This record gives sequence, structure tokens and C-alpha cells, in this order.
Amino acid sequence: MEKFISIKEAIKKGKGNIAIRGWVYRERKMKDKAFVVLRDSSEIIQCVVKEEHVSKKEWEALQKILIESSMEIEGDIKEDKRAPTGYEIDVKKLNVVGYSEAYPITQELNEDLLLDRRHLWLRSRKMTAIMKIRSTVFGAVHEYYRGKGFYEFQSPVIIPGGAEEGPTLFEVNYFGKKAYLTQTWQLYAEPAMFALEKIYTMAPTFRAEKSKTSRHLTEFWMQEMEVAWIGLDELMDYAEELIKHIIKRVLENNQEELKILGRDPKKLEPTLKKKFPRITYDEALKLLKEKCKMNVPWGKDLRTLEEDKLMELYDVPLFVTHYPKEIMAFYKPRDPKNPKVAVCFDLLGPEGNHEIMGGSERDTSIEELTKTLKSKGEKIEDYSYYLDTRKYGSIPHAGFGMGTERVIKWITGVDNVKDTIAFPRTMNRFTP
Ligand code: 4AD
Ligand code: MG
Repeated sequence: MEKFISIKEAIKKGKGNIAIRGWVYRERKMKDKAFVVLRDSSEIIQCVVKEEHVSKKEWEALQKILIESSMEIEGDIKEDKRAPTGYEIDVKKLNVVGYSEAYPITQELNEDLLLDRRHLWLRSRKMTAIMKIRSTVFGAVHEYYRGKGFYEFQSPVIIPGGAEEGPTLFEVNYFGKKAYLTQTWQLYAEPAMFALEKIYTMAPTFRAEKSKTSRHLTEFWMQEMEVAWIGLDELMDYAEELIKHIIKRVLENNQEELKILGRDPKKLEPTLKKKFPRITYDEALKLLKEKCKMNVPWGKDLRTLEEDKLMELYDVPLFVTHYPKEIMAFYKPRDPKNPKVAVCFDLLGPEGNHEIMGGSERDTSIEELTKTLKSKGEKIEDYSYYLDTRKYGSIPHAGFGMGTERVIKWITGVDNVKDTIAFPRTMNRFTP
């Protein structure tokens, strides 16, 4: 056989003898010829096998192929407007590498059955397209931070306790002692920040959240960063630049995938061009009241409903800053100018994508931190290492966390975060 090339490369070549290999995407056998649409990771292509062009053995082998059988073929490629991707291969040689049983993925399968068969459903064009976009997003994150002189820093996954919100920790039996799965790298990133100053991570994060929404997973990949010597405004500059960089790379690399997903890339363009508006929580309440006829009592977090309404006013992500201190995580500091609010932000995604990022300056006062932790019923001992960092050359610093799956959901336009990760973990599912 010829040297194998990808289907995409074969199409690029456009004529002459080529060899490709992949899996049967569709097949139709007729008396003396067969149409086989083959797929590989790059593309699909229609292949025509005529009985007279192949050996008896090859023709017999072909009679046994079903969807997802794997094959190698060699033949002449030529343009054909009627073929699904505009090209067709006239097959001269073929070899079935692995036969397939009747493929258990059919049009009738409901969402749950598709999730049961996720290991097979991954091969679909939809999932393949999403996974390619996901790969671009991860690549863009590393590229962005490394380009800005950040160090990649990893925090432990198994933690002794003490994190974002106590009740949503997953418990681990650690040789008879209770340990937990991490909910954020932050409380380890802050100590490391004193050594490295600008750090980031891209890591699995666990939350035993009993939320059955389209944006909650129990295991997700949080992109987090922590920076020395900066305040809220610079932190939001980083957040905005990062999102823009990710979108830019997806628009450069994944036009075909967006098309497969039926996602209009124009919807993402305002995000590249416009500056993200920055409003305070108080201003958000005012907008909700005046433009959306919604009354949110001061001090309450914005609910799904309210965020949805608010975001109808924007076509780019929106920073909402200075939420009430009482409803914020313990490390978000009071605003010295208005002690009722914390120096923090949430970044809300357009098109109903809600909170895609959350970040804040970090409280540097041991007294404030201790007081807040106590008021939240936390054990101070659990945080002693964290509080230690404030005793030795404490400095202003800030950081944020991005829900990578939520960003991918927005970019791809899929309905649920479950489809942005290969093997989703939710309240009801941790298989396959
Ligand atoms: O707002 P969160 O809880 O912030 C933190 O954990 C901070 N310690 C981050 C930091 O400052 N280093 O989570 C950050 C983001 C959210 O904005 C949201 O996008 C995403 O993580 N997120 C989830 N994504 C999917 N499923 C879940 N259950 C999520 N919970 C939060
Ligand atoms: Mg948050």
C-alpha cells in the first residue's frame, strides 16, 4: 500500500493515488458496488468500491463490514460535487483491520442512553468537534499565561479540609482518616505565589454539588491564576485578555468544528472586538429594576433568572463587581471604601451562560480572615497554614478561577456542560 495520509490531506491533494485508513461512517452495499463513507480524526470521505476493481477476497471482506469497522483503503481520489465532502475515492485495494458488531448508537437513542454509551458516542462528529475545540481552549490557556511570564503550578488534589464551601466537599477515606477532594487550588496557590509571583493552573476540581442544571458538573476543569502585587482592575484585565485570546484561537483553528456544531461564529465576534463592561452589584440591581422590572433585595446573590435577564442586555461577557461581603467566600476582602461589599468580580457569559469566572483580591488581614472564618463556622486549625502566609511579608494579591467547561459550552453553543467533557461526572452519573 501507499503511505497512509489523513483524509484531510487526501482531500487537499485532490487527485491521484492515495491511501487512507479509518472507520466506516456509513455504508451501502449494492450488487456489484458499494459506497463506504470512511472517517478518521480529520474528516469524512466517500469511497466507491466496484467489484471489478478489487480481488475476490477483498470483495468478500467488504460484504461483512458494518458501521465502525476499521479499514485501510487505497485508490484514486477525485472531486465529486455530489459526495458529502466534495471528493470521492475510487477504491483499488482494501483491507478490513477490525470488523464491527452492530453499532449500538442509533438515531433513536435518548440523552441518557447516549451517556451510557459515551465511550462509543465520542466517535460522533459532534463529540469529535467539541473535543477538538476543547483542545484548542486548553492550548490557548497555556499559551496565554506562558506568554505573560506565568509559571504553571500544581496544587494537591487530596486536601485535609477547608476550601470554598464546606458542604460541597467530596470525602475520601485516607487510610482511615477523613480527607477531601479539592474544590480550588487557591489556598495552595496563595502560598506558592510568594515564591513565583505569577502562577496558573488547569486542573480537575471536585464539587459534591446537588445541582442538576445545565452548567454544573461534580468534576470539572478549573483554570485558576494568582498574581502578586495586583488589584481588582488589573485582575479583570487579565480575565478579559484571556477570554479574548481563547476565542481568537478557536475562531482561527476551529471554523469547521463550529460549522459541524451549527454554531454561528459571528456570535463570538463582539467578544473579540468590544471591551467587556464592568458594573457593580449595586448597578446590576439598578439595571434589573429599571430595565427588567425585577426587584432583587440588596444582599441576595443574583439568581439564574436574574442573571439571564441582565445578560439579555449584553452580547459580550459582563463583569459584575463588589458583591455583598456576607455572601462571599471568606478570603474576599471588604472594600475599604464600602465595607458592606467585597473587592471581587463574577464574569457572566452572554447567551445565557451565567458565571464563567469568579475572582477577587485576597484579604491580607489575619484578624478579618479569622473573624470571617469563625462566622462561617469553620475550624481555624484547618486554615492555619493559610493564615501563616499573612505573617511573613504579606502583600496585596489577587486571582480568579474560570469554569473551563462553561466557557466551552458558550463557545460551542451546546445546551449542557455535560457535552463539553468526554466523560461527564454529575450528581447522577459517574459511569462509564
Ligand atoms: O466561583 P468559584 O467557586 O471560585 C473559586 O473556586 C475560586 N477559589 C477561584 C479562584 O479565585 N482561584 O469557581 C470558579 C468558576 C466559576 O466561576 C464557574 O465558572 C466554575 O468555576 N464552576 C463550575 N463549573 C462547572 N461545574 C461546577 N459545579 C462549577 N462550580 C464552579
Ligand atoms: Mg463563584
